[in-house]
Amino acid sequence: MNLDDIRLALVAELASASTDAALAQVRARYLGKDGVITNLRKNVDFSKLSPEERKAFGTGFNTLKDQAEAELEAAKVRIAASGVRDAVEFDYTLPGNDRRMGAIHPIVATTLEVEDIFRSMGFSVYHGDEAVSEFENFDALNIPGDHPARDMQDTFWMENGMVLRTHTSSMQNRALRQLGVPMRAIFPGRCFRNEALDITHENTFYQLEGMMVDKDVSVANLIAVMRDFLSAVFRRDIEVRLRPGFFPFVEPGFELDFKTTLNGVRRWVELMPCGMIHPVVLRNAGIDPEVYSGFAFGLGLTRLAMLRHGIPDIRLLNKADLRFNQQFPAAL
Ligand code: PHE
Repeated sequence: MNLDDIRLALVAELASASTDAALAQVRARYLGKDGVITNLRKNVDFSKLSPEERKAFGTGFNTLKDQAEAELEAAKVRIAASGVRDAVEFDYTLPGNDRRMGAIHPIVATTLEVEDIFRSMGFSVYHGDEAVSEFENFDALNIPGDHPARDMQDTFWMENGMVLRTHTSSMQNRALRQLGVPMRAIFPGRCFRNEALDITHENTFYQLEGMMVDKDVSVANLIAVMRDFLSAVFRRDIEVRLRPGFFPFVEPGFELDFKTTLNGVRRWVELMPCGMIHPVVLRNAGIDPEVYSGFAFGLGLTRLAMLRHGIPDIRLLNKADLRFNQQFPAAL
C-alpha cells in the first residue's frame, strides 16, 4: 500500500465513525503500537537505504502521520458537534448540564394537596396494588358475578384471573382488615378501564377513595367531611348536595354535587359518588355492622385536576407531552 492509499483508507474509515469510541478504534488501527502507519517504519530496514532514500521515507512518513492526526482531529470535532455519545463513555456520575427544571404533574400536585387536607382531618394515607383479585375488586364490594360492572369490555382481566383495578374501592376490604376499626383512611391510586378514548375517557385514570368507620358514623358526618374537604381544595365555602346514586357497596348511595361556576355559568357539578358502607361490605371484612357504621366516597383525582387547571382533554394527562407538562410549576 502506498502512503496515499493509507491516507485515503483512513479518511474512509473516519467518515463512518460516529462516536468517540469508533474514533479511538480508528486511531489505534493506524497510529497505535501495531498500527498501519506505525508499522510502516518498523518494516523498513534502514541499513539498506541510501541517505536520500532514508530522507525521502522520513518526509513521506512524517507527512502521512501529520495528515492522519489532522484527519482524526477533524473527525473528533465533527463527532463532538453531532452530540452523539457512546453509552460506555456516558458518565452518569457527572452533574447534569441540562438546567431546565422538571414540572410537577398536575395529577401528582392534586394528589399531594388532597392528601394533606385529609391528613389534617385525621385520615391516614394508604396505598394498594394496581393488580388485585377479583374478590377485592368485585365480590368484597357486594358486586355479584352477573353485575354489568364486570362486563369484559370494561375490565382488564389478567390471564391469572386477577384484574387491573377498575376503581380504588378495590382497597376497601384490605384496608378494613389491615387497619381495623375505628378507621379513617384515604387511598389514592391509578385505575384502569377498557374505555374507548375521547376527551373525557381514558383507560388509565386516578381516583381517591376515602373511608371513615366508627360507632355512630352517619350521613351527617359524610356531608361535613365532604364540605370541609371541598372548601379546603377550592379555598372558599363550598355548597354541596346529595342526590341518590346506586353503587352495590353503599346503602344509601349518593352522588355528591358541589356548586361552582363552570364556563361562566353557576351550577351544580357532579363530583363525588359516596354513601354509607353496605353492611355486606363490612361483614366481608369481619366487621359487625350492628356495631360499626361508616361512609365511603370516591373522588376522581383526574377529574379534579382537570377542573382546577381548566384542562380540556383528559388525554393530555397521560401523553408525556413536554409542551403540556412544562406549563405546570416545578414546586408545590
Ligand atoms: N368506586 C365507585 C366508582 O368508581 C365510586 C364510589 C366509591 C362510589 C365509594 C361509592 C363509594 O365509580
